[in-house]
Amino acid sequence: MSAQIISGTELAASIRETIATRAAELTTLGHKPGLAVVLVGDDPASRVYVRNKVSACEKAGFKSVMYEMPENTSQDALVGLVQQLNADPSIHGILVQLPLPKHLDSHVVIETISAAKDVDGFHISNAGLLMTGKPLFRPCTPYGVMKMLELTGIELRGAEAVVIGASNIVGKPQAMLLLQQGATVTLCNSKTKDLKSHCQRADILVVAVGRPNMITGDMIKPGAVVIDVGINRVDGKLCGDVDFDSAKEVAGWITPVPGGVGPMTITMLLQNTIEAVERSL
Ligand code: GUN
Repeated sequence: MSAQIISGTELAASIRETIATRAAELTTLGHKPGLAVVLVGDDPASRVYVRNKVSACEKAGFKSVMYEMPENTSQDALVGLVQQLNADPSIHGILVQLPLPKHLDSHVVIETISAAKDVDGFHISNAGLLMTGKPLFRPCTPYGVMKMLELTGIELRGAEAVVIGASNIVGKPQAMLLLQQGATVTLCNSKTKDLKSHCQRADILVVAVGRPNMITGDMIKPGAVVIDVGINRVDGKLCGDVDFDSAKEVAGWITPVPGGVGPMTITMLLQNTIEAVERSL
């Protein structure tokens, strides 16, 4: 039996329609949503991600401003730009694309972003609010995964959820969001022993590691929901962290790569920016 596909492309398109309608209403009221995206250096992957974010904003009717800074930008210059954006009332969301060049301290930069404009949800106040169950901004990728599960009608209360990868951007906030919806959560990391046995217990398996095809069908519980956050390039072709062909024969639901979590991440960035505008009114 083949798993049902959870199409991020389709879900994202329908959410973006609602967002565009709300953006138009807010614009009429004189509060056009504004997002500033800051890119430092010339990492080609980051450049593609940032372009996609800016283009999604424009399509949704937002004001979108991209700041491109050279690789040798100083910490003071970057912090200065963030402070200027904090003070700009036409900007509701600020995103500094990570990773930053090595000489820059990303913690300092992120803590400089006003927590009320931190649409990535990376600021320590937002991480703390998420942890204590009162989130202001949820990090976009885990927020997108939660939306996919909700819109697909997956029951989370009492479900065994296993998250593989414990990053600040995906794994840790993902575990918190699942926990808050009543799932029993296991958060695996690179030192986890017998990863396979953890995976095999999962009713919901979220994989965010960045290693192509590491989760195979034999590691999946029959009927499980498999969410693949990985975006890897192998021989010029995109693939996830899950071996789609073997996994889809065992899973009940599965997200493809591309066309799964990716489009949802950008959608939730737009959603967070709308939420920022609404909170500022
Ligand atoms: N780098 C990889 N993912 C992200 C993200 O969601 N936000 C930012 N700012 N940088 C990233």
